[in-house]
Amino acid sequence: MKQSQITYWCHEIIRSQAVKEGFYIDATMGNGNDTLMLCDLAGAGGKVLAFDIQEEAITRTKELLDQHGMLDYAELILDGHEHMDRYAELQSADVICFNFGYLPGGDHQIATSASTSVEAIKKGLGILKSGGMMSLCIYSGGDTGFKEKERILEFIKELSPQEYTVIVNEYYNRGNCPPVPVFIFKR
Ligand SMILES: C[S@@+](CC[C@H](N)C(=O)[O-])C[C@H]1O[C@@H](n2cnc3c(N)ncnc32)[C@H](O)[C@@H]1O
Repeated sequence: MKQSQITYWCHEIIRSQAVKEGFYIDATMGNGNDTLMLCDLAGAGGKVLAFDIQEEAITRTKELLDQHGMLDYAELILDGHEHMDRYAELQSADVICFNFGYLPGGDHQIATSASTSVEAIKKGLGILKSGGMMSLCIYSGGDTGFKEKERILEFIKELSPQEYTVIVNEYYNRGNCPPVPVFIFKR
């Protein structure tokens, strides 16, 4: 049932929009699964930047990319995604991918947070090209709580429809705070 996983859906939509050898940003590197998928899209001729605030994420992602012979395709940055404007030009990225929460298998107390996540989305929207897309996997409940999800959904609801198409998906018949996949297309 891999089709029902949030990451599977987000990857499918990203792939459907991907530009060969484009510029991709993974705003939450974690174990590197999204970075690896973006490197596969970018290939040797494209560019991938990946951010995380934990050394552990960099180490795990390096290992994963190395196993797939893609270590040279990405720049792994130990910094918060709320600073991504220090590393990427306005209107330059084809896809920006966020997968909020904590590092699976790591410390649940070190996680994305409402204020920096909203700040990073704002900056990311400026960095996206016209025609580019942003993917958000939003989690809630448990150690994550609800504040981040609420703040993100409030923020994206106010985005101008002249500038962005915002699609919020729902696992309609699933209980226990299911994840929310969101896609934002920049016109
Ligand atoms: C759910 S994990 C990401 C999963 C990852 N994309 C993957 O494929 O395995 C969320 C990650 O966000 C990181 N994170 C937390 N705050 C951050 C911030 N301000 N900037 C960048 N990454 C952050 C955490 O350290 C954690 O590794």
